[in-house]
Amino acid sequence: MEKVYIGMSADLIHPGHLNVIKKAREYGEVIVGLLTDQAIASYKRLPYMNYKQREEIIRNIKGVSQVFPQETLDYVPNLEKYKPDFVVHGDDWKTGVQHETRKRVIDTLKKWGGKLIEVPYTEGVSSTYLNARIKEVGTTSEIRRAKLRRLIEAKPIVRVIEAHNGLTGLIAENVQVQKKEKINEFDGIWISSLTDSTAKGKPDIELVDFTSRMSTINNILEVTTKPIIVDGDTGSISERFVFTVRSLERLGISAIIIEDKIGLKKNSLFGTDVKQKQDDIEHFCDKIKQGKEAQVTNDFMIIARIESLILKKGIDDALIRANAYIRAGADAIMIHSKEKSPDEILEFCQSYNNFKKRVPVVVVPSTYCKITEKELIDSGISVVIYANQLLRSAYPAMLNTAKSILENERALEADKYCMPIKEILTLIPGGK
Ligand code: SPV
Ligand code: MG
Repeated sequence: MEKVYIGMSADLIHPGHLNVIKKAREYGEVIVGLLTDQAIASYKRLPYMNYKQREEIIRNIKGVSQVFPQETLDYVPNLEKYKPDFVVHGDDWKTGVQHETRKRVIDTLKKWGGKLIEVPYTEGVSSTYLNARIKEVGTTSEIRRAKLRRLIEAKPIVRVIEAHNGLTGLIAENVQVQKKEKINEFDGIWISSLTDSTAKGKPDIELVDFTSRMSTINNILEVTTKPIIVDGDTGSISERFVFTVRSLERLGISAIIIEDKIGLKKNSLFGTDVKQKQDDIEHFCDKIKQGKEAQVTNDFMIIARIESLILKKGIDDALIRANAYIRAGADAIMIHSKEKSPDEILEFCQSYNNFKKRVPVVVVPSTYCKITEKELIDSGISVVIYANQLLRSAYPAMLNTAKSILENERALEADKYCMPIKEILTLIPGGK
């Protein structure tokens, strides 16, 4: 019997998929190359269901005889392995992100006389449409909470951007850029103490209290589905921290980052220009332990932020702390720096990568912003947080407009800096 290969993600199964399988059966025995979470996340968002769940569904569809993992978006490695006589695919990949992939499939099949069969696209249903509908419906706390760990497993680097209100949350949720063979988007949202405080016209000194921070978090939760990491500042005293952990976890937040400072917290980017005190290791480890004991699920993450480089205590101190915090139960560490060059972060990573017991590393390249995601991946970093760029870009734009109105004593000249009225009216659906 001839072998027919279908590559699929099979996350949101619809009649289009069944159509492809039905067609494939006409040609022979159907083997499904099921894209792994990693393969899917390499070119678009993480699938809703994990590999095991998707595999179970596909295995039980009539006409499918075998299911194997397809580890890359590229079909070639699996085609070389299974040497199918046919590949069946929907004809929608002739254009768009999968165009190149398709070409490589045709060229590879040629080597042994195999053929690509294309099934006309099923009108009215598509994963893109279903995905948009799912976004409209929203998410649950459970699903959202678990997403960060899944992303860290599936992606070479998890890309997180700051949001400080509903509108910036929507940007983090929806903005996409089409690259050659993939779509780039943000994987998650950072609720920064700096931008939350600044947006409220307050200094970043833990003055904006938890109730007020929670209100920002809720506004963002309401309009997004992506996983959220909350900047927990120092985490306060342990007796309060345990409550914070539970509240955030219950809401569906994926992680809190707490920094190893004590007393009056000042923003790290002031470095040693202001008085800031680092917590002692034992005390901070105890806070981590208590937080870990307080959480209910296995999904929630407590991330320990090391301030040694900020406070000029040196890389060795940072490494000693990393080791201690991991042993205390930290699910990840964040290493922070305010240098213009990434050198100290890279040096830290080099030594850290030799640790026996390691957890994912998070970085916030605000000052050493010339570093690329590729370089971060190469140094073993798992999560990059763009911690303040949306607020920093919005403020000068607003200031400019305000000045223009004062300068001209009317709004005409400022109009060119503004989005059209029609666009602001329709930006948020449901306003009409
Ligand atoms: C924040 O965004 O509030 C942070 C990162 O904690 S930093 O501002 O660099 O301290
Ligand atoms: Mg902060």
